[in-house]
Amino acid sequence: MSNSFLRTSDFSTEYLSTIIDRAIAKKTTPSGSKPLSGKSIALVFFNPSLRTRASMQVGIYELGGNAVILEPGGTSWTLEHRERVVMDGNKTEHLKEFVRVLERYVSAIGVRTFAALEDWETERADPILNAFARYATVPIINLESAMHHPCQSMADMMTIREHLGTGKKKVLLTWAWHPKPLPMAVPNSFALAAAQFGHDLRIAHPKGYELDEELIADVVTQATLNGGSVEFTNDVDEAFDGIEVVYAKSWGSKNFYGDANGDIRERSAYRDKWIVDDAKMTRTADAVFMHCLPVRRNVIVSDSVIDSPRSIVIDEAENRLHVQKAIMSELIK
Ligand code: CP
Repeated sequence: MSNSFLRTSDFSTEYLSTIIDRAIAKKTTPSGSKPLSGKSIALVFFNPSLRTRASMQVGIYELGGNAVILEPGGTSWTLEHRERVVMDGNKTEHLKEFVRVLERYVSAIGVRTFAALEDWETERADPILNAFARYATVPIINLESAMHHPCQSMADMMTIREHLGTGKKKVLLTWAWHPKPLPMAVPNSFALAAAQFGHDLRIAHPKGYELDEELIADVVTQATLNGGSVEFTNDVDEAFDGIEVVYAKSWGSKNFYGDANGDIRERSAYRDKWIVDDAKMTRTADAVFMHCLPVRRNVIVSDSVIDSPRSIVIDEAENRLHVQKAIMSELIK
């Protein structure tokens, strides 16, 4: 078993479930234990963040450790990750040296590196995250890469368990309109984790916004192994019928990587139609509403839904802290 946390599918459902049990225990009965005492953890942010950065920094503090935050291209050097390149462009340091130096100081490295949405075939291989994992001997924690956001999906699974109890639920992952294309890491990881936890998963999106084929094959395999199911629909209204958990997220079409304006034109037909609103929530089985945040109000979800008692987005964000503390306590020795 890996000592890095790159994607949930590297771990068994039993192991992931134990992490969630520990996160719930940490939340409900804080023990004050300090497993990271005397240790430093690097948090490398290529992209902006509120929840991930704050919850990791607070979590490391609460576990007795010290967070070292680095922003390549901002307050630390620009980084090259490709092998055998002539570095005569705008990249100052290679990831090989960056990682090998950093791990002389720290016990683990967290990395956030979004998809640039420029080249689908390159980015679907998660090249920057995988370069960190290749060069490091300390654990790497994925804080959202081009293809996965496993800390988010673990917090999502914890939040579903907290609000609806254990056992399979009818879960909808629905695409939503957004003015510009966004990465697929959150929907990928949510679908994968929902399947690993044996939920009955429905994925709704307009034609042309299919998730990665290989990822979907993994989701189907995991659902079969864990007693769940997966179905797909392009009907944004019927998608909500009988659902217990609505999980909204926008993402870009893989057909338009490198052509953001093409995607924006393609999606223009879906504005005001692919939004989570009261009419759609009425079709559900009194579903809870979830979103990883940040969210655009009255674009992805109406005020009336996100401000309703069925919205659990703030608990979901809080659970990032508890689940990441459980992950770090398990992996960083
Ligand atoms: N959900 C999430 O990862 O939030 P941030 O981008 O603010 O970290």
